[in-house]
Amino acid sequence: MLRLKEGELVHLLDKKGKRYPILLKAGSSFTFTRGMILHDSIIGLEDGSAVRSPYNEQLLVLRPTLSEYLSRMKKGSQIIYPKDIGAILMLADIFPGANVLEAGTGSGALTIALLRAVGRDGKVTSYERRNEFAAIANSNIDTFFGHVGIAGKPGTWELKERDIYEGIEESDLDRIILDLTEPWRALEHVEQSLRSGGILLCYNPTVLQIFKLSKRLETKYGQNFREMGIYELNMRGWEIKGRSMRPEHKMIAHTGFIFVARKCSTTT
Ligand SMILES: C[S@@+](CC[C@H](N)C(=O)[O-])C[C@H]1O[C@@H](n2cnc3c(N)ncnc32)[C@H](O)[C@@H]1O
Repeated sequence: MLRLKEGELVHLLDKKGKRYPILLKAGSSFTFTRGMILHDSIIGLEDGSAVRSPYNEQLLVLRPTLSEYLSRMKKGSQIIYPKDIGAILMLADIFPGANVLEAGTGSGALTIALLRAVGRDGKVTSYERRNEFAAIANSNIDTFFGHVGIAGKPGTWELKERDIYEGIEESDLDRIILDLTEPWRALEHVEQSLRSGGILLCYNPTVLQIFKLSKRLETKYGQNFREMGIYELNMRGWEIKGRSMRPEHKMIAHTGFIFVARKCSTTT
């Protein structure tokens, strides 16, 4: 892997785990409570190197992973947490070259993961009805793929400032992912735009939403969809300190439910 260069986004990590994102620029400096560090002293280092402040505090210099990037990027709306994004990529079976549609884009956390997973032969179309969120997502996506050295090559991205409840312009889609309040209102359009064998995945925080979605799919579109499962993920960190080995006191408990269905025709 090439050494860190000007224009890259890196995270400086202190011994307490606090992260400082900086965009490397020759001649610039980073100032924090423990002093100042010149960007020139970082440019040219290897990913994972250490630098020292004038107060002899050591900071690690790291190219952010996707999950680390998401935790520090600008947010307009609530993002899908990395633990859920990981499962979504697997449960929706996002593959290189896939043609995916998602709504809403929000801050673009899931969009970034989708673009990375579909790769340069794939396409992600995002519907977002609020232009202020679309702008935030745009900037987050540009920064990740333009400035993070380990971002990889994204698929083609098309952002549409549209309301998905009013229709889907695309057809023959491999995957549709909905992260919005009333996904059942998009089912009619999803049925028309998803190819046979394609996967619909919906992400919602409350079980009432999932119940309504599931019932609507079963009663109105049951001929054309097979429900594949409803999931919730819990991820609990552990810590080891001396002789103490136990779960961390705090965890992100409930975030959302993942609902998955597959388009297929049961009429023979
Ligand atoms: C929870 S946020 C999405 C977060 C996003 N998945 C992420 O990981 O950053 C929900 C988004 O859906 C958008 N939205 C809600 N209803 C919509 C609709 N009918 N069509 C398009 N976007 C919609 C909202 O404006 C909001 O930005």
